[in-house]
Amino acid sequence: MIDVPEGLAGQARLGEDWAAWLDRLPALTATLLAEWSLRPDGASMHGYCSLVVPVSSPDGPAALKVTFDGDDESALEHLALRRWDGAGAVRLRRADPRRRALLLERLVPQDLGDAWDVEACEVVAGLYGAIHVPALPQLTTLASVVEKDDARLADLPRDAPLPRRLVEQARSLAADLLAPDDSRPVLLHGDLHYGNVLSGRSDDEPWLVIDPKPMAGDRHYEPAPMLWNRMDELVGSSFDSVRDGLRRRFHTLVDVAGLDEHRARDWVVVRMVHNALWTIDDARRQHRGLERGERDWITRCITVAKAVQD
Ligand SMILES: Nc1ncnc2c1ncn2[C@@H]1O[C@H](COP(=O)(O)OP(=O)(O)OP(=O)(O)O)[C@@H](O)[C@H]1O
Ligand SMILES: [Mg+2]
Repeated sequence: MIDVPEGLAGQARLGEDWAAWLDRLPALTATLLAEWSLRPDGASMHGYCSLVVPVSSPDGPAALKVTFDGDDESALEHLALRRWDGAGAVRLRRADPRRRALLLERLVPQDLGDAWDVEACEVVAGLYGAIHVPALPQLTTLASVVEKDDARLADLPRDAPLPRRLVEQARSLAADLLAPDDSRPVLLHGDLHYGNVLSGRSDDEPWLVIDPKPMAGDRHYEPAPMLWNRMDELVGSSFDSVRDGLRRRFHTLVDVAGLDEHRARDWVVVRMVHNALWTIDDARRQHRGLERGERDWITRCITVAKAVQD
């Protein structure tokens, strides 16, 4: 029987649907192991929403990933991985989308969390070239996601803890970014941060992406998570050090990937304002004030949005 790691079991506090999935998870995993002729081969790992079990399979070492099935977030992960077919990304061996189960090539679970941040940005920008292939028709479009968030932004109360000027700016930039143009939509990873890049399968492919939340859209959307993650280490004696650190990351991503600086910057602003919006909306839906951590996160979103602009 597979034990659910403590960190994942704790997600039961997120709601009844999470608790029910976590209850089913050991039996579901056992069934998948039996059906796919797998044997556990090491300690289970986890992220925010999934259990990852190292396994041995008839074809060699692999990793079984079983993800929370109560929202749409992970529903299309298999499509992106299959489309990449191992180029720049972990290889998918087998998938059961209904049960949100994936059998993945086993990688060394060493991510970019400990690398020098600028070097990590170089690695990630280098991976954009491999993964930003023409999008698949089945994917959610970036435009549909951004339009939904923009409608929520329009409903934000005027006293929300987000500068009005920034809200208006994000709305106007989103409208410009979504205006039809000649560029073909690409397959976006959607959540490409330090923790979602693992040590690769060979010296020729030293790093590979995992864990896509794929969408079809503008490749300039991709950089923002490399800015808002690992911000703590940029905090020095002055605001300038955070700002400079964020700008250094941003320019590394733009230069190495050959992105249009203005488009990339505008998407960062839109994404950061939408991130802050989700946090504000969560608290509003639960009829409560913002917690300390949530306020800090909103401040962080504003810092990133400002840092890329001046
Ligand atoms: N193919 C793999 N080989 C080895 N380890 C893996 C593999 N896939 C995932 N892992 C490990 O399991 C962890 C969780 O995986 P993943 O990021 O896919 O899950 P998640 O729950 O979607 O994460 P997140 O918290 O980013 O939403 C990774 O950080 C990594 O340590
Ligand atoms: Mg992850």
